[in-house]
Amino acid sequence: MTVPSAQLVQAESLPFVEFDDSLPFVDEGKLKLQLLQVDIEVGLWVIRTLFAPGTTIQRHRHTGPIYAFTHSGSWYYKEYPDDVNVKGSYLFEPAGSIHTLHVPASNTEDTEVYFVMNGANLNLTDDDNVESVLDAGVITDVYLSMCEASGHSKPAVLGL
Ligand SMILES: [Fe+2]
Repeated sequence: MTVPSAQLVQAESLPFVEFDDSLPFVDEGKLKLQLLQVDIEVGLWVIRTLFAPGTTIQRHRHTGPIYAFTHSGSWYYKEYPDDVNVKGSYLFEPAGSIHTLHVPASNTEDTEVYFVMNGANLNLTDDDNVESVLDAGVITDVYLSMCEASGHSKPAVLGL
């Protein structure tokens, strides 16, 4: 029997790509993102994100559960603003949950969060229609094409 090895991704070994409000699902502000691991068959995508102060992500519904680990800064969902994620916070987002991610403009540093995502983010209009979909396949396509455009042709994303 072959024993599989653990697979390490160092913090700076993958390029960051930057998303700003020219994208439909970024309402305001910007973020940088590394795609750490994907498994398109099971719908898994693991990302490291750095949100600039004053960033808001479009309201979305999750089709699968999300696990979020915050390492710096602060953020919350506008629907429950008293639940503020800070360094060391762990957040569980059940499948079916709907919310709007917001990073306070008063933050003085980037907000670093690791997300273990399952399934899709269904990005919603104000009247709850699905405007766009982000899932393991879409984020892989977007990440790889943005890496390529910045001269990183083969980022070592686990699972690719
Ligand atoms: Fe979410």
